[in-house]
Amino acid sequence: MAERLVTLLSAEQIAERVRELGKAITEDYRDRPLVLVLVLKGSFIFGGDLARAIDLRDCSVDFLGTRSYGEGTSSSGVVQITHDLSNPIEGKDVLIVEDIVDTGLTLAHLHDLLRTRRPRSVRICSLLHKPARSKIEVKIDYLGFTIEDRFVVGYGLDFAERYRNLPYIGVIEQE
Ligand code: IMP
Ligand code: MG
Repeated sequence: MAERLVTLLSAEQIAERVRELGKAITEDYRDRPLVLVLVLKGSFIFGGDLARAIDLRDCSVDFLGTRSYGEGTSSSGVVQITHDLSNPIEGKDVLIVEDIVDTGLTLAHLHDLLRTRRPRSVRICSLLHKPARSKIEVKIDYLGFTIEDRFVVGYGLDFAERYRNLPYIGVIEQE
């Protein structure tokens, strides 16, 4: 079956929102060292753009690999750590950078996990939020866009590992 991609958020719309998020984060963390924790793989593009929109001298980047999805489009609810942070976060201000909060299970788990390492603070920045599918309440401190209950791809988000390289966010429609 052929797949057609319909644009939900254009590259320009995303870039403008990322600039705004970067500005807000810059103001909130002024004079405080910040550790961006990018959740792999989905946030690799958003995180890269967001990092460049944050104008702080003391900003470091680390990566956390997780897997909560199989080949399909529904959450298994099981969060597996596939790659841990390379540095301790004790006493640090941490900002978790996610592509999307869907059921919320991944972020709730990651937030609890990072808390046990005694950071100074942990906040969450997510590009997208799908409130319709929420299974657990997660406080998103910095949010790009709220979207409807559609499976989206692009700008880091995949469908069975495909479409991460799209410069925009789209919805797959079967023809
Ligand atoms: P959760 O359901 O909030 O735990 O989301 C887990 C992960 O599923 C997210 O970090 C994404 O990587 C992935 N995910 C959720 N919804 C979508 C979607 O619409 N497109 C692509 N990936 C998604
Ligand atoms: Mg993800």
